[in-house]
Amino acid sequence: MQQKDELILILDFCGQYNQLIARRVRECSVYCEIVRHDTTADEIKSRGAKGVIFTGGPASVYGDDAPKCDPAIFDLGIPVLGICYGMQIMTHTLGGEVKRADKREYGETDVEFESSVLFDGFGDKNVCLMSHTDYVGALPEGFRTIARTPSCPNAAIENSEKNFYGIQFHAEVNNTVNGTKIIDNFVKKICGCSGSWKMSSFVTETVKALREKIGSGKALCALSGGVDSSVAAALMNEAIGENLTCIFVDHGLLRKNEGDEVEEVFGKRFKSKFVRVDAEERFLTKLAGVEDPERKRKIIGEEFIKVFEEEAKKIGAVDFLVQGTIYPDVVESGKGIGATIKSHHNVGGLPDHVDFKEIVEPLRDLFKDEVRAVGRELGIPDKLVDRQPFPGPGLAIRVIGDITKEKLDILRDADYIFREEMERDGINKYANQYFAALTNVKSVGVMGDYRTYDYMIALRSVTTVDFMTATFTRVPYETLERASSRIVNEVKHVNRVVYDITSKPPATIEYE
Ligand code: XMP
Repeated sequence: MQQKDELILILDFCGQYNQLIARRVRECSVYCEIVRHDTTADEIKSRGAKGVIFTGGPASVYGDDAPKCDPAIFDLGIPVLGICYGMQIMTHTLGGEVKRADKREYGETDVEFESSVLFDGFGDKNVCLMSHTDYVGALPEGFRTIARTPSCPNAAIENSEKNFYGIQFHAEVNNTVNGTKIIDNFVKKICGCSGSWKMSSFVTETVKALREKIGSGKALCALSGGVDSSVAAALMNEAIGENLTCIFVDHGLLRKNEGDEVEEVFGKRFKSKFVRVDAEERFLTKLAGVEDPERKRKIIGEEFIKVFEEEAKKIGAVDFLVQGTIYPDVVESGKGIGATIKSHHNVGGLPDHVDFKEIVEPLRDLFKDEVRAVGRELGIPDKLVDRQPFPGPGLAIRVIGDITKEKLDILRDADYIFREEMERDGINKYANQYFAALTNVKSVGVMGDYRTYDYMIALRSVTTVDFMTATFTRVPYETLERASSRIVNEVKHVNRVVYDITSKPPATIEYE
């Protein structure tokens, strides 16, 4: 769909940093994709890859179910970089020796480099993150050592004639100094990529490809106001204009002014048709008296699909249903599924009864920050593009216990103030998600000469990379103090504000 004439394929051996490798390659302005470790040489050739990276992984090459690579990859005549387990499986496949070790070497380690094109542009000593148990002993034919540490004699190896490289350390993590430069050297100096992957060319080429694919067909998009569905809709708007209809279900669980902001952009500035469905009453009626978090989520998910289907029926049959799926969703869904902690509902989940021929996912190759960059290219305001994640069930899972309109309004005002103060002090630069929640605790307070008995608001802010784990943000007391004082003064029925200092785990980011 876009500029893939310079493609790097990353073979996934289940390492924890795989997505980071892809991030780094793209930071070098080179397009890449993560594919299964057993992708065949033929497939790699047919895709015209300019190079291959083997990721790390938890296995030992001697394990019964150790993931292997197709040995014919080494006959393709294209460069290979093996990282950690990737280096070991390359060594093993090419007839070298992988030694078993009992003890794991972990941590930032001084590595001595020898001259190699892989290390072009920096000195002969470098701090690198080591995280391995087995290590490479005797090298396969044609290889030489290009880096070592006292405990790892082959910290990096090369066969410069065939362009095969292996590094025992993790160049993709920030702890490795010059890590991105190593990846840049590999993709540009060794694989010969020019580094021309740009968001502007992505937009032009994707719009062109979408036009070709859709022609005069009609498309339907569920717009949530979140970054992904907004950018997907904006791309489609650019490609097919009024043949796209966006349905925005306002379930009454949005943040303050959010519905109007979405309408302002998509309803007024874009050529596509925009339908805003005011379904607040319907959702609140269904949710009345429901306290159980999972039931709340289920009701909202089901009701959302129903409303969407009803609206879609009014439009009639469409050719395409647009989804805002992004690359991490695609990669994640290819893996095993962990225990369900919460059943996530995403607006845009697949309705059963909408009549369409095909799904179109214009963002499925992009990471979140790339999606934001595309949004900017398309003129979506920063306010929407930089939006922090917001859960599909909205404020319903931030009002603990049963939900009423009054509680939602209290929460909307408190949340707005907290976000305003966080942004005013620039804390949003390092806080990845921050919001208020309405606890179902009421407590005694004093206001003037009066006793009050009102709600307690909890403020939550987390700093995280992947939202799987998170630490609470060290928000300065001054910011918290101002937010607290404004909330109790400006929002009726709140007389106490607390700041949540739990990390994830053991807590989750949301309250329900
Ligand atoms: P938790 O609370 O599980 O949240 O630590 C992790 C991240 O996921 C978001 N979240 C959701 N996103 N639908 C979504 O689209 C959901 O049902 C949902 N529940 C949680 C949450 O905001 C955080 O960013």
